[in-house]
Formats: sequence, structure tokens, C-alpha cells
Amino acid sequence: MTVRDLILRNRSYRRFHQDVAIPRETLVQLVDLARLSPSAANHQPLKYVVSADPATNARIFPCLAWAAYLKDWPGPEEGERPSAYIVVLGDKRIKESFGCDHGIAVQSILIGAAEAGLGGCIIASVQRRELADALGIADHFEILLVLALGRPKETVVIEAVGAGGDVKYWRDRQGVHHVPKRPLDQVIVR
Ligand SMILES: Cc1cc2nc3c(=O)[nH]c(=O)nc-3n(C[C@H](O)[C@H](O)[C@H](O)COP(=O)(O)O)c2cc1C
Repeated sequence: MTVRDLILRNRSYRRFHQDVAIPRETLVQLVDLARLSPSAANHQPLKYVVSADPATNARIFPCLAWAAYLKDWPGPEEGERPSAYIVVLGDKRIKESFGCDHGIAVQSILIGAAEAGLGGCIIASVQRRELADALGIADHFEILLVLALGRPKETVVIEAVGAGGDVKYWRDRQGVHHVPKRPLDQVIVR
């Protein structure tokens, strides 16, 4: 698979085969991809909590918000929820702010997940205090992002942004999730 293939395959998936477990070792290998990724001034302030067990997953799930544009959909129902999570933390003992390190880190993880036949969704809409309490995360960590992971149970397609310029993703009657992307000639300024 080319890098382009992996990037195309790496859509945001929000419905999963919840019963397909992901071994903790797989999550550790994915974190290793993040560890090897670029970091501003090479400070490497990111740390991770991985969860592959149903009991911990059940504590993480209520702290997350899903697909804000899908107004009638409250998020994946029981049976279609992620089978694993990676919580991305910033270690404030190393640095006070984390720039775009976590964006790079999660993309590395997601590309690795795509290669492994998995999929996921970056979640920034997180009830951080509740999640910190649920997982016992110490105060010197800032919760930056949560990655939901699993074996995808939905089809996601990319389409061109229409003439009206609407970038909202949407779901059709068959349950296919459509993601409008701006065409290349609109994103290259010069
Ligand atoms: C920084 C960031 C934060 C995001 N936060 C959320 C979120 O809180 N909940 C959610 O359902 N999706 C979230 N997403 C996923 C985006 O909605 C998704 O990337 C976008 O719709 C484009 O779809 P694609 O990833 O398939 O290209 C986030 C994505 C990024 C990059």
C-alpha cells in the first residue's frame, strides 16, 4: 500500500465492531509510531494512556462527543463502540504548551492503524476533568486528544465540496458517511 492509499483509507470512523478486541501490544506498537514522530525542539512532551479492556473503555466513552454535524446521532451505540482508546497527554513537567506535536502524533498512529486494518477517530471534544478522574490521570498531565480505535463498521467516502462550499459531513440513507474535501486547486494558493 502506498502512503496515498493509507491516507485515503484513514478516514474518521465512528462505528466499530466492538467485539473485535485490539491487543494491548498493538496499541503499544502504534504509540511507538508516535514516539518516533517529529516533535518541536525535540522536547517529546507527549505521553499516552492506552486502553484495550472493556471496563476501562466504558469509563472513557461517556467523556467523548461524536460527530457534531450529525445532529440526530448521539454517537455509537453499544455494540458499535470503539474497542480501544489511546489518550494523548501533554506532560506539563516537560513543557507548558504542546504546539502541533499531538496532531502529528495521532496521524502517525492512525496511519499505522490503517495499515493494520483498523480505523479510528480523533476526538478533541472531551470532558477533560471527568476523563482525568475516570482514569486517575495526574494533574501534571494535560489531556490533549483521545483516539478512538477499532475495526470499522461503516463506509466513509470522500466527495468534492459542492458549489455552495458546505464542508459538513453527512450520512446517507444507507448509512454511508460522506466527507466533503476542498479540491486541490482551491487549496494551493500559488
Ligand atoms: C483536531 C481534530 C479534532 C477532532 N475532534 C473530533 C471530535 O471531537 N469528535 C468527532 O466525532 N470527530 C472529531 N474529529 C474528526 C473530524 O470531524 C474529521 O477529521 C473530519 O470530519 C474529516 O473527516 P476525515 O477524517 O474522514 O477526513 C476531529 C478531527 C481533528 C483533526
